[in-house]
Amino acid sequence: MHKKIVLLPGDGIGKEVTTEGKKVLDKIAQVFNHQFEYEYAAIGHDAIESTGNPLPDETLIKLKNCDAILFGAVGHPKYDNDPTLKVRPEQGLLKMRKELGLYANLRPIKLFDELLHTSSIKPEVLKGSDILFFRELTGDVYFGEKGRKDGRDTAFDLMIYHRYEVERIAHKAFQAARTRRKKVTSVDKANVLESSRLWREVVQEVGKQYPDVQLEHQFIDAAAMKLIQNPRGFDVVLTGNLFGDILTDEASQIAGSMGLLASASVGDTVGLYEPIHGSAHDITGKGIANPLASILSVALLLDISFGMKQESEAVITAVEAVLKQGFRTGDIADTSTDKVKILNTSTMGSKVVEQIENKEPINMTALNTASFIASIS
Ligand code: IPM
Ligand code: MN
Repeated sequence: MHKKIVLLPGDGIGKEVTTEGKKVLDKIAQVFNHQFEYEYAAIGHDAIESTGNPLPDETLIKLKNCDAILFGAVGHPKYDNDPTLKVRPEQGLLKMRKELGLYANLRPIKLFDELLHTSSIKPEVLKGSDILFFRELTGDVYFGEKGRKDGRDTAFDLMIYHRYEVERIAHKAFQAARTRRKKVTSVDKANVLESSRLWREVVQEVGKQYPDVQLEHQFIDAAAMKLIQNPRGFDVVLTGNLFGDILTDEASQIAGSMGLLASASVGDTVGLYEPIHGSAHDITGKGIANPLASILSVALLLDISFGMKQESEAVITAVEAVLKQGFRTGDIADTSTDKVKILNTSTMGSKVVEQIENKEPINMTALNTASFIASIS
């Protein structure tokens, strides 16, 4: 197959991890006999520096004319420390989501058995956790009217949802639940917010079309607590943009590290794949960032956008095999055991590539990736 992929490394460690994601794409193309054509484009702080715009038109044109997008991260401490700056790197990411209609953000939280002991949560609470988040991505307080008034002394961000926005992502969540453990937990704040009451009403209506799927509702505050108390109680979680942003960072601790979590943003056109972590300027340039989130985003890309199930499984299986052999980046290393070998960003990427090349360990029967794949397709 011939496919065109746009690479958007962005800022900070986004560049380092995307380089590793591309290495994996190259190896997959070689082993499975595909042609992947790449185009690079600018976004975020880098794009502001060179064009004054966090999402230049040139980038947008490339994004609208490709088969899939692999994105790194955006952000820069300069903007975090100065709230008065009008042009910000994150605007590039938000505009891209909106312009491409990427309304459903899938964030699978699955714990690799090898990493059971790296989380700060007790292994007996974590074992077997497997959650798929559907975070709505183009509505909510992120995109509602915002501004200042009263001589700039009052600020507002409108939390707004339209029925169609809730309907379309709810359908996606229920459909995914059908391929999994058939349970949807919808998270809102319907005891306080009108937009959440619409959310709940619409989710209930859509749920009636999926009588085989169990639907429960939780308030965001309670969900945040239960997620850590009993992560196995969740299968598919369906929630809005802001609540989903917060809950999925929390849920990353169930998988051990933010450095492991991949995500897929899909809508009606092209799909965008990205680690859920940010630009992490505190570790940028040190070569220690964990590339596995980007590499696992490549696995999602191959499966969801290209329908390449076998290729996607090869990537996930290779990651599992590398972890099984004790290779770790610093963020997931349990240094109390001498079985662990610490790798840097680039050598971790190369290990995964080696595993894809070397079919033997990939076919190890002990490895089970099927459920992960099925859960997101
Ligand atoms: C994420 C990020 C973004 C978000 C930021 C960078 C705008 O935190 O993808 O989770 O809030 O959506
Ligand atoms: Mn976030």
